[in-house]
Amino acid sequence: MAYLQTDVTKVTTRVLQNMKLHGEKIAMLTAYDFSMAQLLERTKIDVVLVGDSAANVMEGYKTTLPITLDEMIVYASSVVRAISRALVVVDMPFGTYQGNSKQALASAIRIMKETGADAVKLEGGEEVLESIQRILSAGIPVMGHLGLTPQSINKFGTYAVRATEEEEANRVMHDAHVLEEAGCFSLVVEKVPASLASRISQDLKIPVIGIGAGSGVDGQVLVLQDMLGITQQFKPRYLRLYGHIGEDISHAIQQYISDVKTMSFPNDKEQY
Ligand code: KIV
Repeated sequence: MAYLQTDVTKVTTRVLQNMKLHGEKIAMLTAYDFSMAQLLERTKIDVVLVGDSAANVMEGYKTTLPITLDEMIVYASSVVRAISRALVVVDMPFGTYQGNSKQALASAIRIMKETGADAVKLEGGEEVLESIQRILSAGIPVMGHLGLTPQSINKFGTYAVRATEEEEANRVMHDAHVLEEAGCFSLVVEKVPASLASRISQDLKIPVIGIGAGSGVDGQVLVLQDMLGITQQFKPRYLRLYGHIGEDISHAIQQYISDVKTMSFPNDKEQY
């Protein structure tokens, strides 16, 4: 297939909109550090998300709640230093935008100023509308996030698939329209039935990017360490493994240990 947007030197929100219009799927992955982001930069990845999943992947927390704005800014600025083509979106962490739109704007401005990212993402629908509107009023592009919203884990009590009942499905659909009308440039829908995600994508003009939301959406996002097989013991049904890099790393480290112990490293050529 010919990819319509492959030649762009910078992916913008408008490019993503065009991709949806032309039926070209959007590929999005997470990154939290310079080294991984450099590997992504060598590819034609469309969107790089500095997700607050960094709380789990980089910091070992069970939920995404503990990560701070300062930490997200460190991760995001490291990623931005490596990326020139992809659109870089940064998650606003828990507690930096809910319930206080002025604080939301101040947090978003810090992210944009201190990281050089292109956009922010935040979780929730109508309940965070005021925050979204205020951030947008400053000219900061906002990506929404509906369905399973991990920052609300204490309300849900589970990471199981969301919106399987009609009432919640209707609420997600309603919120999707609210976010589009507010001016969000795109939307992530996480772990909802494929039929619902597909209807949202068909109803909305903005690109809908799914994770565990089936193929009827405008793009897909995965956590890079999950799809590379680096994350330990995490294998939800939606995850496809594109490598076993965790095993490769362990083997390499074992080999190094053995080489050091047996004095086969360094050899004559590996010294001065
Ligand atoms: O934090 C994150 O990585 C995310 C993706 C899973 C969409 O929000």
